[in-house]
Amino acid sequence: MSTEPSSATVPAPIRTLDDLRVDGKRVFVRVDFNVPLGDGSDGARQITDDTRIQAALPTLRRLLDEGAALILAAHLGRPKGVDPELSLAPVATRLGELLGEDVLLAPEVVGGRSTSLAEGLKPGVAGSRILMLENVRYEAGETKNDPDLAKAFAGLSDGVFVNDAFGAAHRAHASTAGVAEQVEQKAAGLLLQGEVETLEGILANPGRPLVAIVGGAKVTDKIGVIDAFLDRADTILIGGAMAFPFFKAQGHDVGSSLCEEAGVEPAARALRDAEAKGCRLLLPVDLTVGREFSADTEVEHVDGVDTPDGWMGLDVGPKTAAAYRDEILSAGSVFWNGPMGAFELAPFAPGTRAVAEAVAETKATTVVGGGDSAAALQQFGLGDQVTHLSTGGGASLELIEGKTLPGVEVLRAG
Ligand code: 3PG
Repeated sequence: MSTEPSSATVPAPIRTLDDLRVDGKRVFVRVDFNVPLGDGSDGARQITDDTRIQAALPTLRRLLDEGAALILAAHLGRPKGVDPELSLAPVATRLGELLGEDVLLAPEVVGGRSTSLAEGLKPGVAGSRILMLENVRYEAGETKNDPDLAKAFAGLSDGVFVNDAFGAAHRAHASTAGVAEQVEQKAAGLLLQGEVETLEGILANPGRPLVAIVGGAKVTDKIGVIDAFLDRADTILIGGAMAFPFFKAQGHDVGSSLCEEAGVEPAARALRDAEAKGCRLLLPVDLTVGREFSADTEVEHVDGVDTPDGWMGLDVGPKTAAAYRDEILSAGSVFWNGPMGAFELAPFAPGTRAVAEAVAETKATTVVGGGDSAAALQQFGLGDQVTHLSTGGGASLELIEGKTLPGVEVLRAG
């Protein structure tokens, strides 16, 4: 009997930039420029981490090199209507600096002014070929995947849509999904394509042993990821406050630690499943505890995992950090999502730092989900020492969990 999967179970391939003809055309490009902003010295909003803008450059440069003009669409934050604090103006400026040419910013998302600016673009002419629309979430129809808004987006282009917004691919919105129904040509950008291939690759064909490091605050946020790895990984390393529901399920004292009550039952189930499936699910063996969630609090090391009364576990201890390091160094591939403790507070950073350093040092293929683990790697200056650092937080988790991403599904051939 053939072991080939039936054609019904094999999804159609995602269209790529190789499938497009863009010379002389205006292309509608969805990017994820949802970057963190802070207040600059002059009081203006300033980008504090431009990783997501940098990550889109290969796609934008390639489309420009192939003779396209670009209409860029992105969201920033979660505004309810127009909010000048969440204008894409600082993003357009930064992108212009990185590309070395002017990026025009439309004063609106869609409407007469955006249309005439889009019509005025000159494919192939540097300085007149890139238009960024204002924050797409200024339009209520964006998050509702309103077909009229999707049609208006498509109408700004010459019928070509490129989605490079991996971080927003788990959203079925007008600019990530709906617009794809309204164009003649559509494709994944290089970033989105690379993210999907890498994350699917670590699930489908990982180097062995596959070690998954899962940390963060809540079991319920990550149980889908734990389940996915219980079926695939050789070893799962648990850290962060989400270890406490596991300890509670085992009958340990959790003191004042953050311990998600709703996570206790799924944690107990995961422990049983690990046993049944032959996956090594490792929990911390020691803790660093504090009196309160503060960098100035009294700090103790606990040999064991019972948190004393009046204390809270805020990091894994040194024995755990050393054991996790050994697992990571002897892995064939590593997936990491979620910190080992409150790494933003100096006394409780060592566990996450040890994991970050081991992930940077190991010879294994290393894939790091976005969000807090990405922030930790950057904080320790190790962001460029992993095989793949995802730009998607929620999107990378959903993909690992086996969910379909609407922004990816619409790009499939057929
Ligand atoms: C992100 O920052 O994870 C993405 O840009 C998605 O943003 P959202 O959660 O507001 O949809």
